[in-house]
Formats: sequence, C-alpha cells, structure tokens
Amino acid sequence: MKHLLSIESLSAQDIASIIADTGALKATRGHHSAHPLQHQCWAMIFSKSSTRTRVSFEVGIRELGGDPLFLAAADIQLGRGEPIRDTARVMGRMLHGAVIRTFAQKDVEDFAAFSGIPTINALTDEEHPCQILADLFSICEIRGSLDGLRVAFIGDGDCNVARSWIWAAARCGFELVIAAPSKFHPPPELIERAGGKITLTTDPFEAAHGSEVLYTDVWVSMGKEEEAAYRLAQFQGYQINGELVAHAAPRALVMHCLPAYRGKEIDDATLESHADTIFRQAENRLHTQKAIMARLVNLNSSAARS
Ligand code: CP
Ligand code: NVA
Repeated sequence: MKHLLSIESLSAQDIASIIADTGALKATRGHHSAHPLQHQCWAMIFSKSSTRTRVSFEVGIRELGGDPLFLAAADIQLGRGEPIRDTARVMGRMLHGAVIRTFAQKDVEDFAAFSGIPTINALTDEEHPCQILADLFSICEIRGSLDGLRVAFIGDGDCNVARSWIWAAARCGFELVIAAPSKFHPPPELIERAGGKITLTTDPFEAAHGSEVLYTDVWVSMGKEEEAAYRLAQFQGYQINGELVAHAAPRALVMHCLPAYRGKEIDDATLESHADTIFRQAENRLHTQKAIMARLVNLNSSAARS
C-alpha cells in the first residue's frame, strides 16, 4: 500500500489494519509518541471546496509532526492548464506526500505514478475513500464490528460516496442495499466487478427494512451544480426522515458524510436526533487519516529499506 487512491485497491486486511490503527491513535491523541511525518512537508491540492477534509488533514499532518502546504488548484499553474503529470514531477522532488481533492480519478492516479510520493485521494468523482474508512471505524466504535452488518444507502447511488460504500461492502463482506431512482443506480458492470452482497432497488423502504445503518449524502455533488433542479426533482421520496427510520432495524444508526442539506436528503429532526453519530463521523476523519498517513509513511520506509 504505497498510496490510498480508492477502497477498490484495498484488501480486507488493509481496511482492518487502518481501523485498528485509528482506534489506537484516537485513544492516544495529544500524547502519542510516534511522529512519522517529522521533517516532512505534505501538499494538499484541492480543486473543490472542503471543510472537514481540509481541516482534518491539516490538523492530522501537524499532529504527526509534519507541515501541511495547502494549494488551491486555481492558485497554481495546474489551474491554468499545466498537466497533472508535470505538476506531480515537480512536487515529487520537493514534498514528502500529497492529499488531492479533484474531479477525475485518473488525475490522482497520474499524480501518484509521476510524483513517486505517497498520494491520498481526498475525494474524486469516483471515490471518497477516507470518508468511508472513517465511517467504517465509527460503525465499529459504536457497534463493535462489521459482522452481520446491513447498510442502506439512500439517495444518489452513483456518487463517489456510494461507490466507495460498494467497494467497502465487497471487501469487508457486509450487506449493502442502495435505494435510488433507476437513473442514479451505479452501473451494472461496477456491481458485477465488485461482487459481494450488494443489491439495488428503487424503493427506500425496502432498503431500510432490517438495516442497521441508514446512510445518505447530498443529492447534488460538487461538479453537478448545473443538474441541481433536475436532481432535486428526481430524488423526491428518497429523504431520510422519521418515517423511513421507523422501517429500519431497532436503534439503527443514521449516518451522513456532511455537508447536509436539511429538508432535502435528510430532515432536520432526524439529523439532530442522530447528531452524535453524524458528528462522530466528522471527528473520526482526523483519526482515520492520521492512521492512513502513518501507515503510508511506515510502509514506504520499510519498502525503501528492503
Ligand atoms: N465529508 C467531507 O468530505 O466534507 P468536506 O467536503 O467538508 O471535506
Ligand atoms: N458526494 C459529495 C460528497 C461531499 C463530501 C460531493 O462529491 O460533493
């Protein structure tokens, strides 16, 4: 594991190790002795807005002993058309790692290949691996394990967050049911490639039935703003609210990666009554990403020694 580019590229063992390391780092925050990023400078190259990802990476890099260098893509030559592979070759000679939020998955893959430094996907149009790893940790923290879990994803079943859930379910072996209008189902070839216990439906109540986690994300992802009116019309009926939660398993968790749009994908009362879980997810981004960075640095330095 030289980079963290997708959940697809992780094994079940990688995911289990990241979850275990996250627990250890969370328990020792403020007094852990390891500072694996000491004397390192990590770039954070962002082409899209961010609150949680930006803050948690900046804090996490510092807590591991490193220095973050935030670069809005629009402010560097990348934003004026310099190819990602040239940007990567320059940065690879000066920096020790990179965290990238952008549109095309291929851009993070090219950056990783051409820079040669540990590279982390901080959200692309295809995946949001750090979010889902933090969510898996949060579920384990609350529930004890992922054993026998059934997750219902309600909303845009073809967005980055849903796709990362598909790969997490396939790798970890839990059940995932995606409820979305058929135009927003993930492509059948993706479901086939993933394998595992993943089903698609257009009925949110069928998905919720017996699920221990109800998960949602925005209906209009970054980059899809021009489709906003169409999407808001298409997703009517896919809101997580009290009526839907009543169909889920007793004491089901309601989860949201945030930012939330109350009255759209979730209603205010449901968000507020599950705020402990939802803001725990946000906090756990910090601990999980520290575990990911520490793991990448440790694995890369042991590969260099051998
Ligand atoms: N969930 C998440 O990635 O939030 P931000 O867009 O604020 O980083
Ligand atoms: N699917 C959302 C996730 C935001 C964290 C987006 O891409 O905008």
